[in-house]
Amino acid sequence: MSQKIAGVKGMNDILPPDIYVWQHVEAVARDVFRRFGYAEIRTPMVEDTALFVRTVGESTDIVGKEMYTFEDKAGRSLSLRPEGTAPAARAYIEHAVYNLEPITRWSYFGPMFRYERMKTGRYRQFFQAGAEAFGVSEPAQDVEVIDLVWQLLKDLELEGVTLHLNSLGDDVCRPEYQKRLVAHFSARASELCADCQVRLQRNPLRIFDCKNPGCQEVAKGAPSVLEFLCAPCRAHFEEVQRKLGLLKLPYRLNPQMVRGLDYYTRTAFEFIAADPSLGTASAVGGGGRYDKLVRSLGGPEIPAVGMALGLDRLCLLVSRSKKSFAPTPDLFVATVEASAQDEASRLVSEFRRIGFWVDFDPRGGSLKSQMKRADKSGARFALVLGAQELSSRTAELKPLRGGEPGRVSFDEIPAALRSGQPKG
Ligand code: HAM
Repeated sequence: MSQKIAGVKGMNDILPPDIYVWQHVEAVARDVFRRFGYAEIRTPMVEDTALFVRTVGESTDIVGKEMYTFEDKAGRSLSLRPEGTAPAARAYIEHAVYNLEPITRWSYFGPMFRYERMKTGRYRQFFQAGAEAFGVSEPAQDVEVIDLVWQLLKDLELEGVTLHLNSLGDDVCRPEYQKRLVAHFSARASELCADCQVRLQRNPLRIFDCKNPGCQEVAKGAPSVLEFLCAPCRAHFEEVQRKLGLLKLPYRLNPQMVRGLDYYTRTAFEFIAADPSLGTASAVGGGGRYDKLVRSLGGPEIPAVGMALGLDRLCLLVSRSKKSFAPTPDLFVATVEASAQDEASRLVSEFRRIGFWVDFDPRGGSLKSQMKRADKSGARFALVLGAQELSSRTAELKPLRGGEPGRVSFDEIPAALRSGQPKG
């Protein structure tokens, strides 16, 4: 026998019945995007490496350590997308969408790739559902994106999630804050890990992302970004909070939450689940404002705000409810004898053509084994066909989840299936 080939580490197969949880979560997300008017976009899974280097940032873990980068046959440096915001902005600019409409609301679903250390809820291929709004600088837009996430979590019946909220300031106030951070961390530089020593020189905000306990300890005493906000950033942040209050959306201020991507200005947020099994993978979603990103990619000055949810983590939490999201057939057709198989296949095909989900075992076999299969399939009804049924074109329609069986003519079967009653 040949040697088996395993799937790639950190990349999962999603099979039934797990897939039904995914389909449920995706359907809920699609419905929320519809209610908020976020039209779906689909961008390629592969982009020019420079797109992520310039936006997510060279000194972030995502770009510096985790990206799947390769050369194509023409020697171009390409990367599997580690996130969806930069590709959305690239597409927005490339198609000059700002010339078509003042506000653009987009949503997306798809796999993202980061070469991370794996654990429950942290994978190398994972899936996001994201939403991006271009063209609005008002705080109400930030709140709309947050409201969208809260509505989605509510529709999924997920409890125990906390919104962590922060403002990262802008080009005016952040330099001063960074100076103060450098002063703070430089004074305790010997306690920082080697990576953070480099971060201190290149991008001190990134020290907050470090998982090393020593660095986290030093970060605890760092100055708060909120104390350095300039007047316009402060006013923006206060208005975000006032409007969250207006919509009764709960949040917790967290000045240490800086996000792992460089493109944010002003509002930044993360939705953190309390479920202990997720541990350090407890963020089910995150996002914020990125008013400089479109410009930095060669587009016009267009403000924007957005978020992305981690579908793998949401599905893990939803599956904890033990609720079944598996759909079930309308009908199982069984045969009493082999001679009924041909006519049964014809009937099955006909019912499927008019929209019913019909399960049928093409192998035939004993009625007992077929009925076992029917029960296992979760079908609402079973129809048993033998020579007698085929000649009279009537048969017994048997409810499999309680209720009285009834004898119906073949023509009456669709109506019976629709009404849920054997007698149509
Ligand atoms: P992010 O925080 O890097 O933000 O990712 C968003 C979510 O994706 C996380 O909260 C988490 O649930 C999930 N996620 C991230 N990495 C993994 C992983 N390795 N395994 C499983 N799930 C993961 C962004 O990606 C930004 N683009 C969000 C955004 C949109 N900001 C503005 N617009």
